[in-house]
Formats: sequence, structure tokens, C-alpha cells
Amino acid sequence: MANLIRQTTELALHLVRPYITKDSTVIDATCGNGHDTLALAQMAPAKLYAFDIQENAIRATTALLEANGYRKSIADGRFIVQCVAHEEMDAYVSRPVKAVLFNLGYLPGGDKEITTKAVSTLNAVQTAMELLETDGVICITMYSGHDAGKEEKAALLNFAETLEAKRWHTAYISMPNQKHDPPEILLITRKA
Ligand SMILES: C[S@@+](CC[C@H](N)C(=O)[O-])C[C@H]1O[C@@H](n2cnc3c(N)ncnc32)[C@H](O)[C@@H]1O
Repeated sequence: MANLIRQTTELALHLVRPYITKDSTVIDATCGNGHDTLALAQMAPAKLYAFDIQENAIRATTALLEANGYRKSIADGRFIVQCVAHEEMDAYVSRPVKAVLFNLGYLPGGDKEITTKAVSTLNAVQTAMELLETDGVICITMYSGHDAGKEEKAALLNFAETLEAKRWHTAYISMPNQKHDPPEILLITRKA
């Protein structure tokens, strides 16, 4: 097994994996180069949506899925990769949704100005919460090493603290001894 606490992206996928069954609908809300989308596809959900606002991310994700044997799943609509802002995902997704993955920030190797932002991310998380089934999970990997990411993390943690404990359970995974603002994970599950 990979050493999960050294690789936050692996840890996020590991946390989400037990939620997903063959009947699940799952969303990659920030598909980027497609690595997380591919990992979700390999968990064999009934339906997979992948969103990003950059056409090159959509091309990269589609190519990665196709190269890994998922051409038919794309062609028959089981896997949908779309150039759509995640705050608009409810217009494209049929509920209920079992798992939503957010890997925030900018596309590795891409334009750092095209990054997720506090206001739209909060909107998207709230939208994802409306789509979520009971005992479904939202898993958000946050990067606070850049200004927009700092603001985004603060907004998300403030928001998480306000959630009604009877309806939502949240968890926050930090890496307290790591320097240089390591990635952190916020999890939200619907209790009722
Ligand atoms: C850290 S990258 C994601 C990496 C990706 N999960 C992977 O496995 O390669 C963050 C992505 O979020 C996308 N993004 C930024 N704002 C967005 C928005 N409002 N809706 C959807 N995607 C957005 C960026 O274009 C970028 O590709």
C-alpha cells in the first residue's frame, strides 16, 4: 500500500473509495489532468461526471479515460466529461450523488491564474450538498500555499463550522508538522 499520509491526493481517494458502489453516482468537480477522474472511474460507479472550466482539462481527462479503456463508457453516457463550472453542476447531474471530489487550486503545469476561488467554491460545495444522498461524502483537498487558496481554505473552514450538526458531519485533516502550507482535506457527509 502507498504511504497515504505522504500523498494527500491518494489519501483523498482512499477516503472516498469505501463510499462508492456499482449503484453510485460520483462527481469529480475539478477534473484537471484527469488523474482523480480515472481513479473514480476505476471504482466502477454507475455514473461519473467530471467538470472543469478549461477545455484543455476536458481534453486531457477524456484522453486519459479513453487510453485506459473507458471509450465506451464515455460514448454511452455513463461517464460524462464537461466544460462546466462546478457551481453549475446541478443543471447537469441527476441526484442523488454518493461522492463529490474537489481538488482545488490550479491545473498543474497550467495557468496559475485559472484557479478555484472562495466564492465559487463555496457555491459549488453548497450545490454538491444539495445533490448528496444520506451518508454520501464530499471530499475537498485544499491548497493554502497561494493567496486565493488561503482565502478559499478560510472560507471553507468557516462554512464547515456553521453546519448544523444534526444534519451534517465534517472532518478536517491537516498535516501539522509539514512546512510550506501542505494540502489539507475537508470532508462533509450528510447525516439526514
Ligand atoms: C488542482 S487542479 C485539479 C487536478 C485534477 N483533479 C487532476 O487529477 O489532475 C484544479 C482544477 O480546477 C479547475 N477549476 C477552477 N475553477 C473551476 C470551477 N469554477 N469549476 C470547475 N473547475 C474549476 C481548474 O481549471 C483546474 O483544472
